[in-house]
Amino acid sequence: MTSDIWSGRADAYVESDAHREGEDLDQLVAWAAGARTALDVATGGGHVARRLREAGIEVVTSDPAPGMRPDVVSRAESLPFADGAFDVVACRTAAHHFADPAAAVREMARVSRDRVLLVDTVFMGDEVEEAERRRDPSHVRNYTEAEWRGLVEDAGLEIGDVRLSAHTFDFAAWLARTGCEGEEAQLVEDLLGDRVAEGRLTLDKIAIRAAKGY
Ligand SMILES: C[S@@+](CC[C@H](N)C(=O)[O-])C[C@H]1O[C@@H](n2cnc3c(N)ncnc32)[C@H](O)[C@@H]1O
Repeated sequence: MTSDIWSGRADAYVESDAHREGEDLDQLVAWAAGARTALDVATGGGHVARRLREAGIEVVTSDPAPGMRPDVVSRAESLPFADGAFDVVACRTAAHHFADPAAAVREMARVSRDRVLLVDTVFMGDEVEEAERRRDPSHVRNYTEAEWRGLVEDAGLEIGDVRLSAHTFDFAAWLARTGCEGEEAQLVEDLLGDRVAEGRLTLDKIAIRAAKGY
């Protein structure tokens, strides 16, 4: 996966119904309460940053794709910030694209002074993984709750809360965002089975509140 792929998708991810709203965004805002500063890692269309700023938090955004117009162009695996630079470090719906999620979570822990808040699609089985890769070759892997707990704890963080939820959004728009069409789109739909209903796709998500020590 290259930054160019994501830069070309920037407008689609700003507009995306699957990204600009969702209970997980409300959850992140609630978990960030009391923070003065935050870093939004893999900001994409900037939805986490927008919501945290609306809550009065000073936010810096990072993303490796210049087209996403982050404040800082950077991969999550190597964040150019000092230790403990932000009260909160958040990363939503992006780790399944990271080449090295363990290094990314370690970096988030390092640059956080207090909390690390993570949201991602969770592992839903091999057929969903196959569908995700066919729809978007930059998909690396969704992780199970146990794998997520390992990634977070191995980074030296303590888990305070874990929430699982279902996220439903427009299926055709999800395919269009990555240019998946024709026979490939049909194959993706077949692999997803009854997760697609009435033109909407439901994927499971995990949200984790972790900190440097409760
Ligand atoms: C689905 S979008 C992010 C969605 C966004 N966080 C939101 O809440 O709407 C995935 C983002 O991950 C970024 N990305 C891909 N590989 C990355 C990496 N190794 N480190 C950090 N960001 C990465 C892409 O450039 C893209 O902007």
